[in-house]
Amino acid sequence: MRFSVLFFLKRIFFIILIIFFVDCNDLIFDNKSKVKYIIGFSQCTSGDLWRKQMNFEMELEVSFHPEVQIIIKDGQAENEKQIKDIEEFIKMHIDLLIVSPNEAQPITPVVEKAYDAGIPIVLIDRKINSEKYTAYIGADNFKIGYEAGEYAKKILNRQGTILEIWGLKGSTPAQERHDGFRQSILKEPKIRVLYGGDGKWLGDMAENLAETVFSQRKDIDLVFAHNDVMALGAYRAAKRHGLESKMYFIGIDALPGEQGGVQMVLDKILNASLLYPTGGEEAIRLALKILNGQSFLRENILQTVLVDSSNARILRMQYNQILEHQKKIKAQQKVLERQLKLYKAQKMRFYLALLGLIIVLLVVSFLIRAYLLIRRINNELEEKNRKIEKQRKEITHQRDLLKTMHEKAEQAHRLKIQFFTNVSHEFRTPLTLILGTIDRLENNLKNINAQNSILLSLLKKNSKHLLKLVNQLLDFRKLEEGKLKLYAEYDNIIPFLENIASTFEILAVWKEIDYRFIAEQKEINVWFDKEKLDKTMFNLISNAFKFTPNKGQIEIIVKKEEMQQTLEKSVAISVIDTGIGIPNNEIDHIFEPFYVIHEHSRTHSVSSGIGLALCKSYVEMHHGQILVESEIGKGTAFTIYLPLGDGHLSTEEKFLSHSGEAKIVEPLIELEAEPFELIEKTFTNLEISHKKDKKIILVVEDNQDTRNFLRLLLETEYEIIEAKDGQVGLNKARRLVPDLIITDIMMPKMDGIEMSKQIRNDLRISHIPILMLTAKSSDESRLESYQTGADAFLSKPFNEKILKARIENLLETRKRLRKLFQKNPMTFLQDESMKVQEKSFFEKVVELIEQNLDNSSFSVDQLGQEIGFTRVHLYRKIKALTGKTPSEFIRNYRLQKAADLLKNTDLNISEVAYRVGFESPSYFSKCFHEMFNCTPSEFINNKTE
Ligand code: FRU
Repeated sequence: MRFSVLFFLKRIFFIILIIFFVDCNDLIFDNKSKVKYIIGFSQCTSGDLWRKQMNFEMELEVSFHPEVQIIIKDGQAENEKQIKDIEEFIKMHIDLLIVSPNEAQPITPVVEKAYDAGIPIVLIDRKINSEKYTAYIGADNFKIGYEAGEYAKKILNRQGTILEIWGLKGSTPAQERHDGFRQSILKEPKIRVLYGGDGKWLGDMAENLAETVFSQRKDIDLVFAHNDVMALGAYRAAKRHGLESKMYFIGIDALPGEQGGVQMVLDKILNASLLYPTGGEEAIRLALKILNGQSFLRENILQTVLVDSSNARILRMQYNQILEHQKKIKAQQKVLERQLKLYKAQKMRFYLALLGLIIVLLVVSFLIRAYLLIRRINNELEEKNRKIEKQRKEITHQRDLLKTMHEKAEQAHRLKIQFFTNVSHEFRTPLTLILGTIDRLENNLKNINAQNSILLSLLKKNSKHLLKLVNQLLDFRKLEEGKLKLYAEYDNIIPFLENIASTFEILAVWKEIDYRFIAEQKEINVWFDKEKLDKTMFNLISNAFKFTPNKGQIEIIVKKEEMQQTLEKSVAISVIDTGIGIPNNEIDHIFEPFYVIHEHSRTHSVSSGIGLALCKSYVEMHHGQILVESEIGKGTAFTIYLPLGDGHLSTEEKFLSHSGEAKIVEPLIELEAEPFELIEKTFTNLEISHKKDKKIILVVEDNQDTRNFLRLLLETEYEIIEAKDGQVGLNKARRLVPDLIITDIMMPKMDGIEMSKQIRNDLRISHIPILMLTAKSSDESRLESYQTGADAFLSKPFNEKILKARIENLLETRKRLRKLFQKNPMTFLQDESMKVQEKSFFEKVVELIEQNLDNSSFSVDQLGQEIGFTRVHLYRKIKALTGKTPSEFIRNYRLQKAADLLKNTDLNISEVAYRVGFESPSYFSKCFHEMFNCTPSEFINNKTE
């Protein structure tokens, strides 16, 4: 609405402006701009009254036609002057030319020139000697002359002498008037006409001519002059001679006014005058017809009348009236002009005022618009503010609500975790006991049928699974509580990773997997937490093994690469397998804890799904990334990126091993449980399969041929693992804990002697018998070999039988020890064949069992942790030396201790059971029976025996 009003105002403003400028144009340029036609009037002379009257009439008529302008040029009765005037008009390109030629003959060419130039020509009063004109207007001069003759005849009674005074001889009226007069008089024989001379239309000239005549003759009865002024001249001359009263005077023109012919008639100067109308008014009307293309007559003859004493008075009255009218018109025209000027001035003022008003209106409308706009903006802003305020309040409210919800959720989560922790703790003991029971059941029921065996293995499998779940729940709690911290060390990551990778070599052998460790560089130094990376890698590699079918391929590739997204420089460790793969839609979830997905997928088998979640957490603690790519049926690649440099680590995260500060190590999450189980299972399988008695022999030899030869010799009886130097040998010994090591002495990187030394110093593997092969046969080197811990020595080239015998012998020693242990787990330590290291190891073990004798929850894990052994090392060491698993070892020790107590104290069975860490006396009795083939009470009864 506002805009339409403004639009309307603007429209008016512009219309007014246009009108204003048009009118201003009028005001400034007066009528000129409206002039359509310019009429040029070449007047032969303006010196007499008759011509002045003609000019006046023309101007008066033109004044009624604003579109017409008239320019009058006075020829001053001279032909040259008039020719010049007409030439000028031609140059001006006037629209029409009115000519009253001074004399016909000299003026004719210039008029023809104008006519030829296309200018319409109106001849007035006098004619030219050519037909090149458009129209003629004027009275009939011949007729006038004739009527003058008729009148003269009448008043002279057809006799007497007439003096004829001519107008300008070269002009057509003079000629025609004479011709008409002569025509009339010629018929009268008694009338004589005297030639009075050329008066040239002038009074003075005529007076002089008459003077000459009158001074000579007195017989003139009548003077006929071609116009009134010349007749008056003759009258004056006659008067001087006293002749005027007996003479008649006739003139032509009969002009009104004091000096005019009508007054002369009334004053009895003239007897008659013939009205000769100027035709000024009619000439303009005719010109307009021509200019406007209207029809017109070429010859326009004006009416004449004879004026004498009979009609002069009336005529004068009529004339006076006309003159009066003309005066009035003139006066009114002047008034009109003044009014017009006034009107224009007022119009100008009005427009200016209107313009001012419009400007004011525009300004006001602009101001109103601006005001409305500001008001609208203000309103909108206020509205926005209100909305923002409302939203702010809503957000605050939502935030409060979220906070409360979050607090509640956190509390619920805490309670849930607490609940799970409590329940898990509660579950662990009975589950351990169930598993122990199953183990014994298995041992006891030697001749179990196939169906029951399956049921039993199912029971065992699910119990183990349940225990694992419980353990992982506890582990997860630790992670959730944020108790884990990064202890990064700066070290070469390549040997570290190679070491972990080598652990799985035996699995690769068993599963016939093409297993490779590929490092782009020999040395990549990086800050990493050894424990956490160890667990992460173990998890990833064991998963790869788990999901890769036999004869598949697994690669571990280490190289420097930019981290995805951040493009930070990093070391990229990829574990790539040709396993079953992970479905696309589930790949994003595999790092979520407890994410249960598709039945046949890989992560389902991980079941608790916590391993990968922990891996991710560990990698992220390193400020690194873990990414996974997978394709169903083709395989999976996990890649860990660990940033290079230390810009990403805080001082607390950097573990400076030489700083002297104590390293605070959180209780470890047992990530390795699963792969170890796998390895244990493999070993177990090894023992129970057709290769039941196949022991593992590690051959450390830099010469490929020798290695091949040894493999050839021993392969049928033993499982062979190879190492190309002492360093690799040591690593493999640590990871795989073989039953025997055959080593060369001279080898690159680390020789056999150094390796043996290190093996003897590592309690986890110090028990492994070492057979040293050497080309050296000197006693010195043999002595050195023994000193460094070799159990036997064989010089190359060796005899096959001797080699096998040596091996047998060394393994026999272990058998003896085992038998001893089976006899009495408490006394086998006293056997002299046991090495110092093994003795001290078992002493430690026994000491720890002793310390925890009545603690039923004391587990193998706890034992391992206390000694600083991983489960696998503990398992391999105890199993190698005693033929028992660590848990069997602990139980047997407890039971042996119980037998001692029953034998040497007065404690009852229940007391003894609790004392040695059994929670239920009946279960104790059962176990006791298994070991000693008698119940505890039978044992007491027989103790004297
Ligand atoms: C005026 C006049 C008139 C006469 C006419 C003839 O100049 O002399 O008196 O009638 O011219 O052209």
